Amino acid sequence: MVWKRTISAKALEKAKHASVKVEDKVVFIANVGGKLYAMDAVCPHARCILGELDEQRLTVKCPCHHALFELTTGKMLEPPYVAPDTPKEKLGLRTYNIRDNNGWIEVDVE
Ligand code: FES
Repeated sequence: MVWKRTISAKALEKAKHASVKVEDKVVFIANVGGKLYAMDAVCPHARCILGELDEQRLTVKCPCHHALFELTTGKMLEPPYVAPDTPKEKLGLRTYNIRDNNGWIEVDVE
């Protein structure tokens, strides 16, 4: 495991979610009701940064062409509304282990 510090736990609790740079990646991190989630933040369709979190469904929508991803698995649930030809099974996102370490949110990038 290679844990990397991102933002403070208080900042994430207040913001609910954020896209943070972790080494050479951009990772979408979220705090939903005290549970932490992390997955790639760069949409595999046209590389937009994800941003619209649905806390009830635990999904994240890409703001560019509305592809929808499952926060817990990174699986694409709905394809983008433009050029949706690539099977959505091939467009999922990687998820990461995430933890609160003494008030700092850390992501395992190994
Ligand atoms: S860039 Fe995300 S759906 Fe197109």
